[in-house]
Amino acid sequence: MKNPLNVGIYIYFMIVAERPFLDGKVIMYLSKNSNAYVLRCFYKRIRVGYCYFDKDYNNDGKIIYVDDLIVEEKYQRKGLGTMMMKYIICLAELEGKSVNLTSTINAIQFYRTLGLRKRRDSSQMYYKPA
Ligand SMILES: CC(C)(COP(=O)(O)OP(=O)(O)OC[C@H]1O[C@@H](n2cnc3c(N)ncnc32)[C@H](O)[C@@H]1OP(=O)(O)O)[C@@H](O)C(=O)NCCC(=O)NCCS
Repeated sequence: MKNPLNVGIYIYFMIVAERPFLDGKVIMYLSKNSNAYVLRCFYKRIRVGYCYFDKDYNNDGKIIYVDDLIVEEKYQRKGLGTMMMKYIICLAELEGKSVNLTSTINAIQFYRTLGLRKRRDSSQMYYKPA
């Protein structure tokens, strides 16, 4: 695999050692539509989670905006949300960008475990690479 961050490349995650879920095998697929990048997780051809993000058009491309991150209810708390966010954080680290998003109240703790910080008096959260 030349560049695992290229759009359109399938990435197989073997994360048995980390957390033995869904047979330890999920496919994450990154694609791009006209407005945004779309990260989708599949298990046995079922879409179990997705995330929309944009890294191009605002703030001179210095910020990756995460628009939507959803894991199907049945598949929540199995590490899929973490996997997608880690992918985006990894992109941000590689490209020297920040990650910004608006969190639902329920998801604030989830994002905190990933190192995002919450802005005071706002539901906005952000990650800045060191
Ligand atoms: C928020 C969401 C994306 C998290 O995805 P997920 O795959 O369920 O999360 P993970 O399994 O990777 O969770 C990792 C850790 O984050 C924390 N966490 C996740 N969901 C949490 C919740 N609802 N409440 C508190 N902590 C939570 C826990 O520490 C969890 O680790 P644990 O399961 O070992 O305790 C998912 O619950 C979801 O789609 N929710 C509905 C839509 C939504 O609110 N999306 C966010 C929009 S900004």
